[in-house]
Amino acid sequence: MGEQVDKAQILVASNRGPVSFSVDDDGSLSFRRGGGGLVSGLSSVAAEIDTLWVCAALSDADRKAASSAPDGRLDRAGFDLGGARVRMLDIPEQTFANAYTSVANSTLWFVHHMLYDTPNKPLFDAAFRAEWEDYRAYNASFAEALVTGAAEGAKAAVQDYHLALVPRMMRGRRPDLRIAHFSHTPWAPPEYFGMLPADIGRELLEGMLGADHVGFLSRRWADAFLKCCETFLRADVNWDHRTVDHGGRIVRTGVHGLGADAEGLRERAEQEDVAERRATLRELVGGRRLVLRVDRTELSKNIVRGLAAYRELLRTRPEWRGRVTHLAFAYPSRGDVPEYRAYTESVRRIAEEINEEFATPEWTPLILEVNDDYPRSLASYQLADVLVVNPIRDGMNLVAKEGPVLSHDGCAVVLSTEAGAADDMGGAAVMVNPYDVSETAEALHTALSMPDDERRARCERLVEASVALPPQRWFTDQLRALG
Ligand code: G6P
Repeated sequence: MGEQVDKAQILVASNRGPVSFSVDDDGSLSFRRGGGGLVSGLSSVAAEIDTLWVCAALSDADRKAASSAPDGRLDRAGFDLGGARVRMLDIPEQTFANAYTSVANSTLWFVHHMLYDTPNKPLFDAAFRAEWEDYRAYNASFAEALVTGAAEGAKAAVQDYHLALVPRMMRGRRPDLRIAHFSHTPWAPPEYFGMLPADIGRELLEGMLGADHVGFLSRRWADAFLKCCETFLRADVNWDHRTVDHGGRIVRTGVHGLGADAEGLRERAEQEDVAERRATLRELVGGRRLVLRVDRTELSKNIVRGLAAYRELLRTRPEWRGRVTHLAFAYPSRGDVPEYRAYTESVRRIAEEINEEFATPEWTPLILEVNDDYPRSLASYQLADVLVVNPIRDGMNLVAKEGPVLSHDGCAVVLSTEAGAADDMGGAAVMVNPYDVSETAEALHTALSMPDDERRARCERLVEASVALPPQRWFTDQLRALG
């Protein structure tokens, strides 16, 4: 019933959706709205246009919610998404694990972030081929939900490396739709992308080229994609127009940077729970300088080298001992991937080593917190003197942008050249090569020693760069690029 009226004009597809469910003690389901640029971007258009968000059920509670809703469509009330509907796909567990954990997170993420420890991995064998089949099936489930949910001539914005095959799958069935694909990650240069089996590399590129518009967060990533199209598809790339001519169609590429949602952040940071965390943190830090990092425990975030740089600072610049506290928030992430579990352990180990080497009865040099506490992250942004963002590679990195926006007295940012955020923040941050621990240690010293005036002035420039591209604009730009 109501099939026609239910068709959406705007569709978004992403693996992780805007809401997640949990089961309460009494067995009932409650939900939590997620954050991030896509949620604020979509909410801003959904009030006026019929909008559908297709995502995957990620937990047992999500699956329960998805299976109890007609056709997986969840009640739009209460999600605070401007009225957007959400369809959560209940994908068979093994298919999902192979697509998400093995192909997307253990392979494509590693390729685009250049994370392989190459003597051992990657290794593409028959087992990988079977997982690849599941990646296809998972992409097909999304394509199916999108083509059945889309009104005539609707616009669809397909997100990220999980869903690279979706645009082509949709185009075959609904040539009337206008389709965008957007990558939130970097894109690997051909020398690295070429590690993938040739047919799989081509299938990924051709999958994305099923879109009308292929978007990236930085020109660097868009360039790498275009080079991959030239190298592996022998496609005709027009570098002036930044288009790809392949299979009888011309596909445009675009760069859409993403900034902090300053308004939303400031509003959230005004709340009482943030003030409480701030008071606790103040006491903890006790008048010392505060060096902060906030990350998922993620290989590409380069936490271990970041902590090693802090250790080197304390070794080579003893004047900072006892005068600085490093708060490192490293929230759990992708625990199903063995490399992430091992990495979490190495983060914990180096944190312990640092405290063993330098702690005194009055001073704990490093406080590592692994429990995700969003209001505490916001409070720590307000208080930090130095924010460390040193990823090996990062599509953008919003921590680098959110920190300065909330800073009370101006924070210095130590920033990796390999983060997309370096494109617009490079001039005001202290830049580092993420592999160079000694340079990062020196950058920490520079940031900690910065005169107050300079730190505040630089922070103002960081804020300007951070808020220039609010998520609402980033999202509507993607839609506008579709005509
Ligand atoms: C990156 C990706 C997103 C992903 C997020 C968290 O930002 O670009 O697509 O949702 O990491 O990772 P997770 O695997 O927990 O969804």
